[in-house]
Amino acid sequence: MEPVRAHITVYGCQMNRLDGRLVADVLRADGACVVDVPGEANVLLYLTCSVRAHAEDRVFSNVGALAERKRAEPGLVIGILGCMAQQYGDGIRRRAPGVDLVCAPGRLAELPALLARARAGERVVALDPRRGEGGAEGFAGPDAALDRFGACRDASSDAPGRAFVRVMRGCDAFCAYCVVPHVRGPERSRAPGEVLEEVRRLAGQGVVQVTLLGQAVNAYAAEADGRRWDLADLVSGVAAVPGVERVQFITNHPRAMTPRLAAVLRDVPRVAPYLHMPAQSGSDAVLARMNRHYTAGEYVDRVAMVRAARPEVAVASDFIVGFPGETEADFESTLALVREVRFAGGFVFKYSPRPGTAAARRFEDDVPDEEKRRRHQVLLETVGRIAEEENRRFVGQRVEVFVEGPSPRPGLNRGGPGSTCRPDWVQLRGRTPGNRIAVFDGPPDLAGRIVPVRLVEARAVTLFAEWDGPASDR
Ligand code: SAH
Ligand code: SF4
Ligand code: F3S
Repeated sequence: MEPVRAHITVYGCQMNRLDGRLVADVLRADGACVVDVPGEANVLLYLTCSVRAHAEDRVFSNVGALAERKRAEPGLVIGILGCMAQQYGDGIRRRAPGVDLVCAPGRLAELPALLARARAGERVVALDPRRGEGGAEGFAGPDAALDRFGACRDASSDAPGRAFVRVMRGCDAFCAYCVVPHVRGPERSRAPGEVLEEVRRLAGQGVVQVTLLGQAVNAYAAEADGRRWDLADLVSGVAAVPGVERVQFITNHPRAMTPRLAAVLRDVPRVAPYLHMPAQSGSDAVLARMNRHYTAGEYVDRVAMVRAARPEVAVASDFIVGFPGETEADFESTLALVREVRFAGGFVFKYSPRPGTAAARRFEDDVPDEEKRRRHQVLLETVGRIAEEENRRFVGQRVEVFVEGPSPRPGLNRGGPGSTCRPDWVQLRGRTPGNRIAVFDGPPDLAGRIVPVRLVEARAVTLFAEWDGPASDR
């Protein structure tokens, strides 16, 4: 049989992007080739997301569009991996009959063997246990084989110098709307020694920025060296690894925000002043129905605690609009929260009922789509306007940015502010300490480094800058 030439399409969150990277490493270690162009592949893998119906619809339509190619190339293997695999199991074939392989998030390390069976003509379904009430039996452990694999350098965009490191799997928060605890299984924290060893290895390979990943990352809890470790201990340990210049951790649950973690933000300069801590809503009634375990007032208090410790911290949020029963007054409360907290940025989602979740079982999806769209737009505008106002305060300042690489939208400010138009330079995209996007012109080899820039203009999601490197280089 000809060797595997796999193409991997990734949807969903950073956790999935990391899995995508690790899956590529696992396949390569098995002798497969991972290709960039789907047309060159004999194995098409989709690492899927179930968080909203829209994410699933895209996968079904992409896989559906392959029907003709599948007829023309009978050897072509199509695999649905990740969260949708666990959500639907073999049922996936009802909507996507061409699928040969279904593999849940906890089984990804077995992919080479599963793929071999699928290529031999078997219909393969590899799932995690169904989530009951109890513990973590039967689920891939916190230090699952997948996390031991490969270099896992930059999970999201292949930027050099940056890495995402999983510190936990699963989630036990059971927010009423959310499918993640059902498809990613119970919360399991990795041993601190494993995480630190991985970070040391990455730093040895030139990684300067580390992002620790967990669904409610600040719920991290482990026992090691005869004591308990929380996220504050782990973040301090990671920041102390030689070579690591910047540490972030996403995503934070407001309920699990502790004074200890705030103290780490205050005391450890290498910990980035960035806190992604989704509020979801500003209405206490909605938050209660969402099973979030805090009020808007408590959320504001947590932000105040963090800002008292590190005043420049950039707080970012996610919001859901149109949750069942959300009234105009509830929505106004969310706008009020945004005006009070003054977020550095925020993602806004329209509520999407997810099969198997408490909200889908208990509440009718009663906010009309048109109204969801209106609230989505109004909230997005409010968040954007405030983010832009906040961004403007940085104009004129010199900050250190992590350079991700060439800007995905070059020419945005060609000839505009910050533009120098040197022929050997490109427009680069970097991240400020608060994780804001800064674009500037410079030599391409700045990618993967942390360099100084001067900020010259602000918009809602982008800051324009000038490289402030040594004069001899400029
Ligand atoms: N663990 C992370 C990410 C969860 S999914 C966290 O807790 O923040 C990312 C975001 O998707 C959530 O923060 C929420 O705003 C949104 N989301 C989750 N389920 C949703 C649903 N059923 N409908 C709409 N948005 C949803
Ligand atoms: Fe979903 Fe809530 Fe867990 Fe985040 S914390 S993954 S929103 S259940
Ligand atoms: Fe991530 Fe989507 Fe799964 S948000 S955990 S890929 S459901």
